[in-house]
Amino acid sequence: MKKLHLLIVFLITSMMAFAGEGMWIPMLLQYNEKEMQEMGMRITADDIYSINHSSLKDAIVLFGGGCTGEIVSDYGLLLTNHHCGYDWIQKHSSVEHDYLTDGFWAMDRSQELPCPGLSVTILREMRDVTKQVLQHVTDEMSEEKRQATIDQSIKEIVAEMEKSTKYKVSIKPFFLGNEYYLLLNEVFTDVRLVGCPPSNIGKFGGDTDNWVWPRHTGDFSVFRVYADKDGHPANYSVDNVPYKPAKHLDISLKGAEEGDFAFVFGYPARTNEYLPAVAVDQEANVIDPIAVRLRGEILDIYNKYQEQDKKVRIQYASKHAGLGNGWKKWMGVTEGINHFHGVEKKRYYEEAFEKWCYVTFQRSFYFNLLQQFEEKYKELEPYRVAYTYLSNAGLNIEIIDFAGNFNKLSQVTADTPQEDVDKMIASLRKATQAFFKDYYQPIDEEVARTMLSEYLENQPADFRPSFLNEIKDVDAYVEQLFKKSIFASEEQVNDFLDHFKPNKLKKLQKDPALQAYQSMIGFYREEVNPKMGPINKEIDRLQRLYMKGQMQMEPEKRFSPDANFTLRVTYGKVEGFKPQDGKNYRHFTTLDGIMEKENPDIYDYVVEPRLKELYNNKDYGRYADKDGTMHVAFTASVHTTGGNSGSPILNADGQLLGLNFDRCWEGTMSDLIYDSAICRNISVDIRYVLFIMDKFAGARHLVDEMTIVE
Ligand code: ARG
Ligand code: GLU
Repeated sequence: MKKLHLLIVFLITSMMAFAGEGMWIPMLLQYNEKEMQEMGMRITADDIYSINHSSLKDAIVLFGGGCTGEIVSDYGLLLTNHHCGYDWIQKHSSVEHDYLTDGFWAMDRSQELPCPGLSVTILREMRDVTKQVLQHVTDEMSEEKRQATIDQSIKEIVAEMEKSTKYKVSIKPFFLGNEYYLLLNEVFTDVRLVGCPPSNIGKFGGDTDNWVWPRHTGDFSVFRVYADKDGHPANYSVDNVPYKPAKHLDISLKGAEEGDFAFVFGYPARTNEYLPAVAVDQEANVIDPIAVRLRGEILDIYNKYQEQDKKVRIQYASKHAGLGNGWKKWMGVTEGINHFHGVEKKRYYEEAFEKWCYVTFQRSFYFNLLQQFEEKYKELEPYRVAYTYLSNAGLNIEIIDFAGNFNKLSQVTADTPQEDVDKMIASLRKATQAFFKDYYQPIDEEVARTMLSEYLENQPADFRPSFLNEIKDVDAYVEQLFKKSIFASEEQVNDFLDHFKPNKLKKLQKDPALQAYQSMIGFYREEVNPKMGPINKEIDRLQRLYMKGQMQMEPEKRFSPDANFTLRVTYGKVEGFKPQDGKNYRHFTTLDGIMEKENPDIYDYVVEPRLKELYNNKDYGRYADKDGTMHVAFTASVHTTGGNSGSPILNADGQLLGLNFDRCWEGTMSDLIYDSAICRNISVDIRYVLFIMDKFAGARHLVDEMTIVE
């Protein structure tokens, strides 16, 4: 009975599969155009991506190495998330100018701050080069030979292309190595910081609200792209001028209603939608729960001490954020996969695939494919688990991780050039200062006790670093570790560095924290990696075949390739959702929610007096919704992932509605299986962004540069 029920669920959900699912290649968007227009879109695929005339793609950039941004004026003005600009805002901050806390606004172009090292990349053209890349590949080739042949072809095609273009040329695999596309990119390296709100707006709700709806974060920052006088990319120079894009995005002040068509245009980093059931099961029910449990225990310890002491709260804020981001996301993956029967749905699909395979001998290629997946993933599991313990338990013991910085120094010999040694020492001095600035030993001791106990209780002896096998009593070991290791004391570390000589290495080599580190790394290098590597290679091969098989089995279906940090279009509707029985989320939040969440004692929930004043006077200008309130954020059923941060979310006319910055944790399974019932992306409403710029910060001149559609 349950089986039948699930089958029906599966059939219905796959029938409904317009489903917002899929990260589409802009160059092939004509195949989605009809569906997009049926959903409400009023522009064409050609308006979104064209190489013959300007199109929306000319306004979309890869921001730095990990986010998306969009150009919103003819003067290269660029919007992205606050959390994407964070590092650059931080780099420009000092005690006198604390832009993270207070925000920053360049009141004219001379005040804009150069960000050396920051680049933005604009896609100029994309071409299918599958045939050329795979031309010398045969089915009989070994995997190594296959890869070498492909690498060689890619090298040749790129070299040939480079002769006739000024753009940066690269080729990337799509559909798990079944297709290859060539990308022509232009990379701009003079990018300047123009403005950002204070963190209590740009990061409002902090890590507590991260991944969570309802959300009230004004997650945006503003940059400007500069070019040389001819509009070409150039390194920073006072002579550079604002870059004039072929197209900038227009901005809609109309907002979006529930059910409205919307699409996101940006750079999603990685999804795995075509994994077999066994892999999804392993991820959701073995690996993620271990990582969540280990990180949860560490976060509990952080919380306990952070609550007791303001200084500790600040010291551990960023570490907490780092661990907490994955912790919450993976919790959502497990919850979503299980609640929505993700593994069972995959299994039904696989049954159909098997049946299809055995219809004709021509498909013998795929015989036993799924059986082989089962075997390989079973083989892989203990090593994946071991790796999960190592990275989440072992290396989160800070004293051990920190000691690892000294590993290279511990190996210098009398022959090592003095210059190299001096360099090492100088950089270790810096690392030491940075480490102790944010280090609180009682936390680390408790983390060490808890994580080492976890290890000993839950990992068999041959799946843990060897030093653990000598520990008889964890408490006693930890006590000795912190007593004997120099890495527990800044003074001792500095003293050691001050008087360093190669003949004094014994002290380092015998240090228990460094020994623990070496044991962990040795275990990874000698036991885990050599075993995982070949299994993963074989899985990659199976995965490539399985992808090909699925595409053959369903020739009518439009498949979308997994995200790989190339430009994609994803679409769906502006809509809320029901995460649980009895819970119904509206699709938008307002400034009222910020006032509700306000708590002057909790850093994440401090509200600026100026914002309160505007709220009390309802001074929203033209940025208010027609319901009279100030909308802050909204959700949509658009398929996004990491890297889509800062991506524009656009309406049926291709006008900017907001900036994507997160997903709801209940639907983070969308990296493995997308389900439009539960997967929602979260965007900050562009009207809130402009309201903050204009009314809150008085940077009206920036809004005036943009094309506003009222
Ligand atoms: N969850 C988002 C992402 O995965 C936002 C992270 C930054 N924001 C934060 N509060 N930590 O990148
Ligand atoms: N915050 C993510 C990022 O920085 C986007 C959220 C997601 O993973 O969907 O890319």
